[in-house]
Amino acid sequence: MIRKATFLVSNSDLNKCPKPDRAEIAFIGRSNVGKSSLINMLTGVKELAKTSQKPGKTQLINHFTIDERWYLVDLPGYGFAKVSKDKKVKWEKMISDYLTTRSNLCGVFVLIDSRLEPQTIDLEFLNWCGEEDVPFVVAFTKADKQSKTQTDRNVKLFLNKLVEIFGDTPDYFVTSAEKGQGKEAVVQYLTDLVAEFESQR
Ligand code: GTP
Ligand code: MG
Repeated sequence: MIRKATFLVSNSDLNKCPKPDRAEIAFIGRSNVGKSSLINMLTGVKELAKTSQKPGKTQLINHFTIDERWYLVDLPGYGFAKVSKDKKVKWEKMISDYLTTRSNLCGVFVLIDSRLEPQTIDLEFLNWCGEEDVPFVVAFTKADKQSKTQTDRNVKLFLNKLVEIFGDTPDYFVTSAEKGQGKEAVVQYLTDLVAEFESQR
């Protein structure tokens, strides 16, 4: 259970992020996939992370302090077509630098829209995570938007693609920020990651 979640700081500069003195878990995925909404659902704080119907809402590296113990991070989305090329390159560099150099990062939740069939941009991103040894987990989002049959179908198609790339299936969750689906399982997973990180120090 998460008892307390508070906003700490937003940064565009990796060097200005909080001291990496505790476990940190980040949320990433395409713009509009539901990162900020999922964070709010998991923490139980409705407007902790800012959400929007329009893609491109989260533009910075946002740190939240959880239970005075670990950091949860909301990142900007990738694949947002409506920003300038310049901005896109800057965001991508910010995100990739963060994911590859943040020393206290013990898990990265990569969010995938459960309404869609496998998207190249997501598969490429996960492939890159694999190459860079980014410790990722997959969370399918917006499961309330269609029937369970449809969700299961898309999840299966996506996992099959991951088996093609990696030879096995990563840890994954099916979630709905709207309905609270997956909350208990994901929070337990987060707590376990934090405990594991702490036991290794
Ligand atoms: P960026 O910050 O722009 O990259 O987007 P994001 O990934 O943080 O998405 P955000 O949480 O802002 O959600 C985008 C839109 O999807 C909002 O209108 C949310 O209300 C909606 N949404 C997010 N999660 C769910 C969900 O589980 N179910 C439903 N029905 N809508 C959702
Ligand atoms: Mg967001």
